[in-house]
Amino acid sequence: MNNLIRKYNVAGPRYTSYPTVPYWESEKFSNELWQESFIRSFEESNDKSGISLYIHLPFCESLCTFCACHKRITKQHSVERPYIEAVLKEWQMYLDVLGKKPIISELHLGGGTPTFFSPANLEFLLQEIFSKAIIGNRYEFSFEGHPNNTTTEHLRVLKLFGFTRVSFGVQDYDAKVQKAIHRIQPFENVEKVTLAARNAGYKSVSHDLIFGLPFQTWESMRQTIEKTKSLMPDRIAFYSYAHVPWIKGTGQRGFDESDLPTPEQKRELYEKGKELLFEFGYQEIGMDHFCLPTDSLYQSMRQKKIHRNFMGYTSSSTQLMIGLGMSAISDSWYAFAQNEKSIEAYIKKVEERILPVVRGHNLTKEDLVVRRHILNLMCFLETCWKDEKMDLPEMPDMINRLREMHNDALVILDDKHLKITEKGRAFIRNVAMAFDLRMIRHQPESKSFSMTI
Ligand SMILES: C[S@@+](CC[C@H](N)C(=O)[O-])C[C@H]1O[C@@H](n2cnc3c(N)ncnc32)[C@H](O)[C@@H]1O
Ligand code: SF4
Repeated sequence: MNNLIRKYNVAGPRYTSYPTVPYWESEKFSNELWQESFIRSFEESNDKSGISLYIHLPFCESLCTFCACHKRITKQHSVERPYIEAVLKEWQMYLDVLGKKPIISELHLGGGTPTFFSPANLEFLLQEIFSKAIIGNRYEFSFEGHPNNTTTEHLRVLKLFGFTRVSFGVQDYDAKVQKAIHRIQPFENVEKVTLAARNAGYKSVSHDLIFGLPFQTWESMRQTIEKTKSLMPDRIAFYSYAHVPWIKGTGQRGFDESDLPTPEQKRELYEKGKELLFEFGYQEIGMDHFCLPTDSLYQSMRQKKIHRNFMGYTSSSTQLMIGLGMSAISDSWYAFAQNEKSIEAYIKKVEERILPVVRGHNLTKEDLVVRRHILNLMCFLETCWKDEKMDLPEMPDMINRLREMHNDALVILDDKHLKITEKGRAFIRNVAMAFDLRMIRHQPESKSFSMTI
């Protein structure tokens, strides 16, 4: 295994989108094109499946030094209301052009820290959002909660609006690791919010864990997983630590690179962690995710219905996802658009009644086919090009690139079909890279991606 890790540990995307953000052709993109694209998608899909909403709530009280999310650190809670007002203005801009009420089937509050906001302010935000929309017959609403500041009042208010899923950022329980990542979070806090969520009637409670953090050893990881098991969350996101200190705004400075596990040690944390999770009754979903067989994500995976987007895996999908708030990404299936990444620039554009999109990409026919292959790999670990709509002129070259992985027993490749083996699971990102025609044609000029292992 160590030889394979050395061979395949290269910088590569996590494929929460295809094309990946550094390959978006923003120079060919405009607000007009985005508007055309989301209206088309809305008209094609609103009556059938409804739409998804993602709302980015960026504030956190304290900086975790591993964090790669778009956030703003402040202790001033007076920022809440003006930010919500801006999000509502952005929502109104969409409503003004959509022509009829959207049916909301999925809603996710992400961050930053949604629970930085007071329950009363979240209530105000959601009341306003829903007053101009219809809630779908089947819907799934979820939010990211920080175990240190999620209150029973947050849980109660959000439950009243139909939220049934919550994910808590746990990361690691070891004291030395917590100190290095500047995130002191005792087990008791996580236990308290997990039990409170269950008591409040949440159907699915998820914990985020990270492997590859500074000072982690197998012994500390084992204890973190055992403590996690004692609470039996329905889902576990077992993320590979993305070390991306070159991204502006990441706080990855609280430790030294030499404090990080080596690639081999990091992979060991994952492989042993995975075995322990299996022992505890969890099933692996796509890449980095686990759930209990009773969770809807597992049923959806068996029915081949799961989808992967910027927030991870979801048990269903809508064609259109509108992202509101600073840095939020929207997806019409035909195009991606990302909002301004600073709060000031975001609020300024919204005040001027301009859609606050800063970059985006219109997918070409080729992009749409590659996107489907990569989604198949990320969700189901296999893909197939028997259907001529899934074939591409470059396929023989792609197959040649995959031969080596076939010889290394990471994939099983035949004429029109590829399946990732159990051994190959650790290398999903590398397999997807063989399909990434944009990356194959142009290697990134600057550092953009974390290492695949
Ligand atoms: C927006 S945060 C979750 C909500 C809340 N802010 C919290 O920290 O509890 C989303 C998750 O992204 C993951 N994450 C953030 N930075 C990461 C990184 N550099 N590598 C891997 N996972 C990361 C963490 O597991 C985190 O819980
Ligand atoms: S991990 Fe969560 S709380 Fe910590 S800085 Fe990132 S978004 Fe904020």
